This record gives sequence, structure tokens and C-alpha cells, in this order.
Amino acid sequence: MSSTAVNVQANETAASASKPPQRLFIPGPTDVLPAVLAAQTAPMIGHRSDEFEALFAKCEVQLQSLFETRYRVYLVAASGTGLHEAAIRNAVGGRVVCFVNGAFSQRWHDVAVGCDKQVVRVDVPWNTAVKPEIVEQALLAALQDGPVDAITVVHNETSTGVVSPVAEIAEVVHRASPNTLILVDAVSSFAGMRIPTDAWGIDLLLTSSQKALALPPGLAFAAVSDRVLERAAQVKGRGWYFDFLNLEKSLKKHTTPATPAISLMRALSVQLDHIFAEGVDVRCERHARLAQRTQAWALRNGFALMAEEGYRSPTVTTITNTRGIDIDDLNQYLAGQEMELSNGYGVYKGKAFRIAHIGEVNDADLDRLLTAVEAYLAGAR
Ligand SMILES: Cc1ncc(COP(=O)(O)O)c(C=O)c1O
Repeated sequence: MSSTAVNVQANETAASASKPPQRLFIPGPTDVLPAVLAAQTAPMIGHRSDEFEALFAKCEVQLQSLFETRYRVYLVAASGTGLHEAAIRNAVGGRVVCFVNGAFSQRWHDVAVGCDKQVVRVDVPWNTAVKPEIVEQALLAALQDGPVDAITVVHNETSTGVVSPVAEIAEVVHRASPNTLILVDAVSSFAGMRIPTDAWGIDLLLTSSQKALALPPGLAFAAVSDRVLERAAQVKGRGWYFDFLNLEKSLKKHTTPATPAISLMRALSVQLDHIFAEGVDVRCERHARLAQRTQAWALRNGFALMAEEGYRSPTVTTITNTRGIDIDDLNQYLAGQEMELSNGYGVYKGKAFRIAHIGEVNDADLDRLLTAVEAYLAGAR
């Protein structure tokens, strides 16, 4: 057994042995294992030290494996939105087509507008997926007016619980416009669902730490293809902090251009060991199973599901409030048992609620939550 394998085994024991009951059933931040939280209390080290470079290099190899990419994975001290901006600034010189089917795809569109790019917005009904035929049609129409540098699409719309088929989307984009880069937000699906970045033909896949990775907020990650770097070299106004050419130079030296979030990276290292010890497929199957259980529970209890069938999220289930319950009151009741779920996002507040089965949530956790909600529905409050 290699020394890495020994370490993984040791961390798995430490990390998973003491998992307390889940408190947060919201789609991030999610509960973090005590051993992962504890890793942040290790003494500080210099970020130009051998010890830091070793930590960085170890995480980089594990991240490449988790992203299923042969390219690099950039790691930045930011939340996912920072990488929305990085993706636009590096991959788009001229025009970008943004598909909007929820609050976070709308945010990515707004970021592109904020970066002063030429933005073509394509609205898709919320609660439905962005389908390849919609993408093809919109892209062909946009191409009439000139080249399109990139498209943006959110894989798992956390506001609605809808998953879009990004592999099929990438296929139509490659066919219709080979030079158009495919930028994908996997903030709330990554590490809860297998996303073979290279095999699916994705040029940039971004995520943040506080979702299915089950880490504290503050780190964001992006797998970036060579095609994106070649584009970045042609694009002006990339800024500095998120400039991929800067990040690339540092990555080669196993570090970051500016001071990294060292404590968060220590937590990342322990959590990555835990994820691989659980097994990526096992982890993803757990998410899928919990999603199916939550969906079935909602229907059995007289609610409806908001996301269209066939495109429902494995990490967050959005439940239409057909029974007209007071969601804030439900949450107050759940708080008494140290649990919390999410109200509907934005316009769906009061009209829907969301149960996130993300990160380290297990079957026993879900049982505990659903039993408590059933008691509330039966008038326990
Ligand atoms: C799908 C999606 N994209 C982007 C974001 C923004 O990520 P962050 O809050 O890490 O900036 C979120 C946050 O919930 C999200 O769910």
C-alpha cells in the first residue's frame, strides 16, 4: 500500500467516525465533518514553503481526479461567483451567449454584463432544463451576427432543483460552432454527481467549497482546458487576481499568485481524502438515492415537485408548497430539533421549499428530518 493510501485510510477513520447528525438541509453551506473543521486549527505556515507546496500539489492531483480532467484545476480564495467572473474575463473577448433558467444562471449573465461583454441572453422557463435543441437554435441564431466566444450554462440550478444535460449541450455546441467555449457552473452538483469534465467536452467547470464538497465557504475551483488558456492569451482586460495566465504560472510551482487560504486548504486536503475513501461513485449514488427518497416522500405527502421530470437534482429537491404550509413556522419548529431546510428562492419564497441532501447527509439524517416534518404536518407544533 502506498503512503498516500495509508493516509487516506487514517483520515477516513478520523473524518467519518465522528459524524454528528446533520443540522443543515439547505443547499449550502452544508455541515462540515468535525475532523475537517479541526484541520483548520493547525498552525500557520508560509505559503512559499515546501510544506505548503506539498499540500497544494497533493490537493491538485486529487482535484484533477475528482474533476475527471487531464487539464489543470485552479483553486482560488473566493466563492463560486468569483469564478463566474474569472470565466467571463478569461474566455470572452467578444460575445457570450448566457442561458438563463434560474437565479444563478441569471447571476452569471449579470456578471457577464458587469464585465462589459457583448451578452446574448437566452431565457428558458424556470423549472425546466436547458435542452440541447434550445442551445443549438439559440447559438445558430447568434452566429448570424458573428462569432460567439463562449456559452454559459448552470448544470444544477439550485434555485429550482433542475439539472441541465451539459454533455449533450456540449456536443451540439462543438458541432455548431467548434471555437465556442463551453463554460459550466457545477457549484451545487460537483462531488454529488459524476461530471466527467473532459469526456463531456466541457472547457471550464467551476464549483465552490460549501456545497457537495462539504467544506466551509471560501474556496472555489475551476477545471480549465488548454482551449480556454489559448483564448485567455488573446483576451484583454483579464484583470489580475483571476487572470488564468497568472494562475497557471503559479500552479506550475504548486502555489497561487496571492496569499492562499491555507487553513481552508488544510480542510480541503482532509475532506478530499474522506471523499476518495468513501468512494466517488458511492458518494454520488448516496446523493441520487436521497434525492429519490425525498421526491417520493414529497409526493406521498401531498406536495408536488417543482423541477420537470427527468431533470431533477440529486443534491436539492424543490417541493411546491401545494399544502400551503407556513415555511418559516416549519423552520422554527425544526430549529427546536437543530435542523433547518430552505424556503423557496426569491420569487418562490413561501410557494416552495427546498430540502438539500448534499455533502455528508446520510439516510439516517434524512429519516430524522422527514419524520420531524411529518410530525409538524400532523400538528405537532
Ligand atoms: C448554482 C449556483 N451557482 C453559483 C452560486 C454562487 O456561488 P457562491 O455563493 O459560492 O458565490 C450558487 C450559490 O448558491 C449556486 O447555487
